[in-house]
Amino acid sequence: MEKEKYKFPQDFLWGGATAACQIEGAYDVDGRGLSTSDIHQYNDQLDRIRYRKKLVENEHTSATLAAAVADQEGYYPKRYGNGFYYRYKEDIALMKEMGMNSFRFSIAWPRIFPRGDEREPNEKGLQFYDQVIREVIDAGMEPIVTMFHYDIPLPLLTEYGGFKNPQLIEFMVRYAKVLLDRYSHLVKYWIPFNQTNLVQYCSFKSLGILRDKTENLIEDQYIAIHHQFLCNAQIKAYAKKINPEIQIGIMLADCTYYPATCRPEDIVFAMKRIRMQYFYADVPLRGEYPGFMLRYFKENDIHVDITEADKALLKENTLDFLAFSYYYSRTLDSQKNTMDPASISENPYLKANAWGWTIDPLGMYNAISQYWDRYQKPIMIAENGFGYEDVFVDGTVHDDYRIDYLRQHIQAVGEALQDGVKVLAYLPWGPIDLVSSGTAEMSKRYGFVYVDLDDHGKGTGNRFKKDSFAWYQRVIASRGSEL
Ligand code: BG6
Repeated sequence: MEKEKYKFPQDFLWGGATAACQIEGAYDVDGRGLSTSDIHQYNDQLDRIRYRKKLVENEHTSATLAAAVADQEGYYPKRYGNGFYYRYKEDIALMKEMGMNSFRFSIAWPRIFPRGDEREPNEKGLQFYDQVIREVIDAGMEPIVTMFHYDIPLPLLTEYGGFKNPQLIEFMVRYAKVLLDRYSHLVKYWIPFNQTNLVQYCSFKSLGILRDKTENLIEDQYIAIHHQFLCNAQIKAYAKKINPEIQIGIMLADCTYYPATCRPEDIVFAMKRIRMQYFYADVPLRGEYPGFMLRYFKENDIHVDITEADKALLKENTLDFLAFSYYYSRTLDSQKNTMDPASISENPYLKANAWGWTIDPLGMYNAISQYWDRYQKPIMIAENGFGYEDVFVDGTVHDDYRIDYLRQHIQAVGEALQDGVKVLAYLPWGPIDLVSSGTAEMSKRYGFVYVDLDDHGKGTGNRFKKDSFAWYQRVIASRGSEL
């Protein structure tokens, strides 16, 4: 490859991305309340390939939630994370050493509003983030903050029914205003909701819906999503008022779908499936519901109350950028698959990791290009990475497979930049190993830094640099030309 081919812009944000509930731990410290993440139990009988389907089955009811809260035996890894709450200085120093100039992390909602419905925030919770944000900025990194990443305070589910209840708009916006008031002079980039489009997989952790508290799950999901759209617009309206420099983004989990064949039915089926994902960005970025979605509501007897005032609010407060996570592409066969997002076919041209996630850097180039053509708004690669069960030997990990994966995906970003796409940032997932969101395993590792903890939380928690650490350091120092 020619050397200068992928020289990235001077102001490009090279970083890493995390979520509070997968790193912090300290779940019962300094007044923090319990959230949906605290009741995700580790299951050592896990079927990795099929876990996404199981996730749906594992969605909670009031009874299973209460049982998890009361359980004294099971291990709940997200309560302990990788120890970031106590080791954040060390971790930020490691990221600085790699040369990162940005860091995406989330603020734990239950640290700031332990029940979710209080009028006043928990000062101790805020003080923790005062320190983290200061440390990040002092390390020369741009903080990119997610407000809500899969950790709704539990009373908002048990007492209010989650985001399908319009009161949640008030609680979320109050929480967002507290964060913006305190940090808008320090943090420019904000993502109110992580991966808004994954509701069919996880209506529990992203919408706070308990299965016994809904009679029509699909309808309630779209009502809840509408409420999240309104939160976005209200947050954007407030941010504009207090500091016009602030950038508010929508975030998607990219679901690139390929048609299995060139049968026109396959092409149109894949287009229709992906359009159901674009919907989640269409509303906040274009400011209105797309016609195909209104038709879908009508034909499926789904009633979402979209008032004239809602329409005006959405139109006047479109968001500033599109963030998305990209891990793998999916393939669809119109004769075998359904509209259910979990229904996909094998792609014989792609290899996959142990969790069945395909390795497809061209898919990322395709995704970036499609989003840019559709929205013409700046793009942030908010997550990307290769989950692997690393082998730790002699104080390190020889993770050339991870280097290969990341190299090809950075090249995909480089290709998009050459097309003139405004890509702001590349933020690989979990720069320091963390707890998996989907499976609560520690052994699904993404990091440049190995954390000595196993799936049962055993280990010192100490940090060790993998081979990819020095590699990413070189990539950043050469602005992408030494890949
Ligand atoms: C994204 C989430 O879906 O994917 C992260 O925003 C998550 O929270 C990441 O960790 C990878 O998924 P997993 O299941 O491998 O942790």
